[in-house]
Amino acid sequence: MTALPFRLTLSTTLALGLLALPAAAAELRVGLITPPSHQWTQTAQDIAADLAERSAGEITLVVLPSGQLGSEAQMLQQLQSGSLDFGMFTLGEFANRNADYGVFLAPFIATDTAAARALLRGDVAQELLGGFRQFGLHGLAFGMAGLREIVTATPTETAADLKGQKIRTVPLAPELDFWTLLGATPTPMPLPELYNAFANGQVDGMQIDYEGTWNAGYWEHAGEVIASDHMMFPMAAVASARGWAQLGPEAQALVAEVFATRIDAMVEGYGEIDSRYRAEIEAAGVPVREVGRDWFEPAVSAWYDTWRAKTPLLARLEAEAATIDDTDTGTDTGTDTGADTGAKQ
Ligand code: BEZ
Repeated sequence: MTALPFRLTLSTTLALGLLALPAAAAELRVGLITPPSHQWTQTAQDIAADLAERSAGEITLVVLPSGQLGSEAQMLQQLQSGSLDFGMFTLGEFANRNADYGVFLAPFIATDTAAARALLRGDVAQELLGGFRQFGLHGLAFGMAGLREIVTATPTETAADLKGQKIRTVPLAPELDFWTLLGATPTPMPLPELYNAFANGQVDGMQIDYEGTWNAGYWEHAGEVIASDHMMFPMAAVASARGWAQLGPEAQALVAEVFATRIDAMVEGYGEIDSRYRAEIEAAGVPVREVGRDWFEPAVSAWYDTWRAKTPLLARLEAEAATIDDTDTGTDTGTDTGADTGAKQ
């Protein structure tokens, strides 16, 4: 770790003038909890390549995956102190401090990945990006890791069967509320511990995406996958506000554009990614049960009642979701459950 927010190295490339400080090139770092194979990390690598190319080598972005800088809570502190430059994080650290940042976790707010993409680029998203200042950060873009499904050790006929089951979640208030309202026992657990915990029966199931289910091998111990698409799993790309101030306007514009473009491309790709990994799981012989919003009721309606009271931003996101239809999103991802969003209540 260094004292300066952005490590400044002497460079011969003075001409671009990308930095606020003259005669320097920047070596920047981005921290993530996802492993090298995950889309978030791959996208961070693409961002690093684009920045190197478009700044003629003046900006180097070092990608630090797999939580090697610590948990997201620890990396948030590093961003606030300026010893880390960027993070690509789940919304856990933000939603647990300010309920506004929980709204993207609203169950069935997006009927498919294309609708999720529209919301992640919408007005509420822009406002939330601006609000990252309250955390000592500069918001760059929202992404996601596709839609959430449920992987269980044994088949689940009705949502009532989930009562009392230990379901692995992330420690995010909106997710925890959803599972508590279903009568399950939400069990927060970091991803690296999950394979063994599921294999050994320490948890009965998990809320997860198709990508992780396949790549991490959770499917090997699955009795069933419940294809629910019940939530998106958002990601926030953020910069240290202290470090951001060290960049000149040109560098800021370049970094902002590259992050936004690459992250949007990743989000757009999730329709195909989710479909592809689901096909792999089905081909491996794991039974898949299709369910929609009704299957989870009355828990979904109760969730909306709780969260509308927590944040007025939810009603605004619902209104935005109500304006998004298949014609707006223009893509049929094959993952639409046909379930109503909360917005249509
Ligand atoms: C998870 O903990 O489930 C998770 C974290 C980051 C990306 C995708 C999934």
